[in-house]
Amino acid sequence: MSDQFTSPINTVEEIPGLRALVQAQRQQQASIGFVPTMGALHAGHASLIEQARQDCDFVVVSIFVNPTQFGPNEDFEKYPRLREQDLSICQAAGADLVWMPTKEIMYAPDFSTVVEVKALSQILEGATRTTHFQGVTTVVTKLLLSCLPDVAFFGAKDYQQQAIIRRMCLDLNIPVEIKTCPIIRDRDGLALSSRNVYLSEAERASALSLSQALKLAKEKIDAGETDLNQLKADMQQLLSTTPLVKLDYATIVDTHTLEEISAPQPEMVALIAAYVGETRLIDNCLLPPV
Ligand code: PAF
Repeated sequence: MSDQFTSPINTVEEIPGLRALVQAQRQQQASIGFVPTMGALHAGHASLIEQARQDCDFVVVSIFVNPTQFGPNEDFEKYPRLREQDLSICQAAGADLVWMPTKEIMYAPDFSTVVEVKALSQILEGATRTTHFQGVTTVVTKLLLSCLPDVAFFGAKDYQQQAIIRRMCLDLNIPVEIKTCPIIRDRDGLALSSRNVYLSEAERASALSLSQALKLAKEKIDAGETDLNQLKADMQQLLSTTPLVKLDYATIVDTHTLEEISAPQPEMVALIAAYVGETRLIDNCLLPPV
């Protein structure tokens, strides 16, 4: 076990050490909140930790840049690793323990089991990032089974991810409540993402088109628009005419099945994915019932 109890916050690396610490809390009837992350923490992650702090007695954050959810040409190598900064954010937001397993701890050389949520993982993000969600669901299963929290907190920005994780926990009877917390945005509307650091000044300006397109869809619905195909076309038009933006999808889907819809219904979400320069960004917003 290579646990450390140095300031600023308690950290643990090995799974038996994590389990012992969580178990000790359980024996004192503490409820366990868990915030899984890949580090490079920002105010969006801090809001998840703060929510966990409010809802639970003992808050565990995991930091693990999970290699299996990155495609071969994606940014695994350059993904920001900011250990000290991340630990300060965890502490300031109220975490009790940060679990930072190594790749060797999470994936033995002969590791050969995957978890896949079939249909939901193949559409939208999964249509182009074909192994991404299998990597996410496999690691999240391992993280949940290692920590065994009462509640796990995920950000709404990764809308498809939280929907897949909910489905997975239901299907596999994983006894954890999944709580989805609101997107945190910069003042100008850009959804916070660890990948925003890759954006140049010009790209960052263009990236605002994602939240602007969502705002446009919402405003048009508020103004009485009921033609969802027109709304999708409006979002696509705004995005595809913004410099540096290469649109992947801008669509409106059912909040649970994530199937594209063309007629209004009570629960709908608009989802966008686009490259801004080389950086893939996603954003979404729940739409008011029409
Ligand atoms: O959302 C993320 O940061 C990651 O996909 C997660 C859930 C921590 C799994 O690696």
